[in-house]
Amino acid sequence: MRPPPRSAIGLLLLLLLLLPPPAPVAAGKPTTCQKCQTLVDKFNQGMANTAKKNFGGGNTAWEEKTLSKYEFSEIRFLEIMESLCDSNDFECNQMVEQQEEQLEVWWLKKEHPDLFSWFCVHTLKVCCPPGTYGPDCRACQGGSKRPCSGNGHCSGDGSRQGDGSCQCHAGYKGQLCVDCMDGYFSSLRNETHSICTACDESCKTCSGPTNRHCDECEMGWVLVKDACVDVDECAAETPPCSDTQYCENVNGSYTCEECDSTCVGCTGEGPANCKECISGYTKESGQCADIDECSLAEKACRRKNENCYNTPGSFVCVCPDGFEETEEACVQTVEGGECIPPRPPSFVYFHNATSSH
Ligand SMILES: *[C@@H]1O[C@H](CO)[C@@H](O)[C@H](O)[C@H]1NC(C)=O
Ligand SMILES: *[C@@H]1O[C@H](CO)[C@@H](O)[C@H](O)[C@H]1NC(C)=O
Ligand SMILES: *[C@@H]1O[C@H](CO)[C@@H](O)[C@H](O)[C@H]1NC(C)=O
Repeated sequence: MRPPPRSAIGLLLLLLLLLPPPAPVAAGKPTTCQKCQTLVDKFNQGMANTAKKNFGGGNTAWEEKTLSKYEFSEIRFLEIMESLCDSNDFECNQMVEQQEEQLEVWWLKKEHPDLFSWFCVHTLKVCCPPGTYGPDCRACQGGSKRPCSGNGHCSGDGSRQGDGSCQCHAGYKGQLCVDCMDGYFSSLRNETHSICTACDESCKTCSGPTNRHCDECEMGWVLVKDACVDVDECAAETPPCSDTQYCENVNGSYTCEECDSTCVGCTGEGPANCKECISGYTKESGQCADIDECSLAEKACRRKNENCYNTPGSFVCVCPDGFEETEEACVQTVEGGECIPPRPPSFVYFHNATSSH
């Protein structure tokens, strides 16, 4: 059997590397609370879908009466229950079967409290009210109204899990997410609210929004007259880029870019910023341009009968068809009517319509 080509193996390896690693088993799997929430959402959807059934849109007394009879009827309950799961969703159907009795209790109640709260939080005890966490639904850090001061996520929020601690949003820190991280300043602080705003990019730490409010400058910036200003790294005594590159200063840093291919050293982009030109090129109105060696006063191709062709950066000398190359000249090979086939040219020359003639 022929082994698969090398390139195919390479591609396979690449694909394997690019594919995301298999997710840990627990991640992505919905929690019991999420499953309950989904069931409630579907039940509420079923309520909405059947709301207008048996109701012609008119407003007759008869319709009012049939509607109110239908509203919490066994028929409607069964219709909703049937719509909760796809027929091939085993897990969903199993859950519905297990909870059918409980849901019916809610259905037959005189008052119908919020289904999620009644079912998931208080009956099954798999969820907690928003802003609370853990087995006993305790208030999150910072209180259940605005957990983590509104600047973070409370661990286990709304579930029977987690520890109620805060994972702060970007810019915030501390147990209650009211303190500002380095690179942020406090732009509002009262008894209930704390807002941290990003410093100017020139500051490592700051007390306000501009580069005049820096406590300490960010790397690549220096303090000049009570403001942090960009360092021009390119103006340094020993430039940071190599001889074949030019330096470009940017805020807080710099970049090194390759010179044009016709340059020997450069101060910027393109053939117009060369310090010097590579051989075969010369400065013409400020730019490095190809020298046409064939049109120079001093002949580039010195042998008799020889043709000269210019190329980028150079030129080639070729004997015309019917001529043979010798040390000193191109010599005609056609003698007395006898035609000797010409030798193939000693140079392969790619004729370019725009650059010859
Ligand atoms: C605190 O600031 C917030 C945001 O501006 C405001 O809505 C709230 O009323 C303020 N609270 C107090 C006690 O001043
Ligand atoms: C560079 O920094 C200055 C001063 O902080 C700012 O005004 C300017 O917009 C910045 N330029 C860029 C391209 O970010
Ligand atoms: C011909 O020469 C022109 C000008 O130097 C160049 O822009 C073009 O790419 C060349 N064409 C070919 C096929 O080499």
